[in-house]
Amino acid sequence: MRIVHTINEIRQSVLGKKQQNARVGLVPTMGALHAGHGSLVEAAVEECDFVVVSIFVNPTQFGPSEDFEKYPRTLDTDAAYCEQLGADIIFAPSADQMYPAEQLTWVDTEKLTEVLCGQSRPGHFRGVTTVCAKLFNIVQPDLAYFGQKDAQQAIVIQRMVKDLNMPLEIHICPIVREDDGLAMSSRNKYLSADQRKQALCLYKALTECQSQVAAGQRQVALLIDAMKQVIQQHQGQIDYISIVDPQTLDSLEQIKQKALVLVAVNIGKTRLIDNLSIDLNTPANPI
Ligand code: PAF
Repeated sequence: MRIVHTINEIRQSVLGKKQQNARVGLVPTMGALHAGHGSLVEAAVEECDFVVVSIFVNPTQFGPSEDFEKYPRTLDTDAAYCEQLGADIIFAPSADQMYPAEQLTWVDTEKLTEVLCGQSRPGHFRGVTTVCAKLFNIVQPDLAYFGQKDAQQAIVIQRMVKDLNMPLEIHICPIVREDDGLAMSSRNKYLSADQRKQALCLYKALTECQSQVAAGQRQVALLIDAMKQVIQQHQGQIDYISIVDPQTLDSLEQIKQKALVLVAVNIGKTRLIDNLSIDLNTPANPI
């Protein structure tokens, strides 16, 4: 497995493979890889002939008071993990490669980015869509892989690809959880032992919501109250708890068929997110 740092190198490698009719998969990441990313790489290895993992801590998706500086950077261990999973090449550009001059052109997906994480993190999704558009243009993958853990991001990227007629397919892979239910996240590394216990409140709130829906509760306000209680019992600072239409992200008052339940909670200084998809027409799997 190779590691390349420049746009020219990754373009040359992909071009060579495309000339052999290879199906190219891209797994965009910011590194600090865990089993959640691993599942994306595994899916790409299974479905594609040539798998690129990009590792780039993208400065434009972090707000001024967010954790860009302290975001974990672990390229050597990430590379070993990708090699073990069967990835073909890592594209790990510098910020100067990706943003050589002042960026005057941005990709902005409206409406879907104005709610939920978009409200708490102004400018975040503009950074995400712009860097993903750049990565798609640089790598020109046939498929790109994202995790359901970042549900809003997945919805926004799918919409960007559709609206801008980008010639690739987006695959969304299920959330990967620790044995006790905590959703895998690179930010879990920030948690102390006590905070790690508290962090379970996101999963517990979602399972509470799932049980209440299974028992027949359809009123969103009551479901949100029940989740709030679980999170407050664990001293989590709620950023938002929302139950929305999974396509439009509009808030629901009642669950009628499909719904997306999202939570964002600060545990100390660490902001964690998690979510649950509900479809009343299919039997619920334990999350
Ligand atoms: O999900 C992430 O790790 C990032 O938002 C992404 C998609 C790699 C863009 O920087």
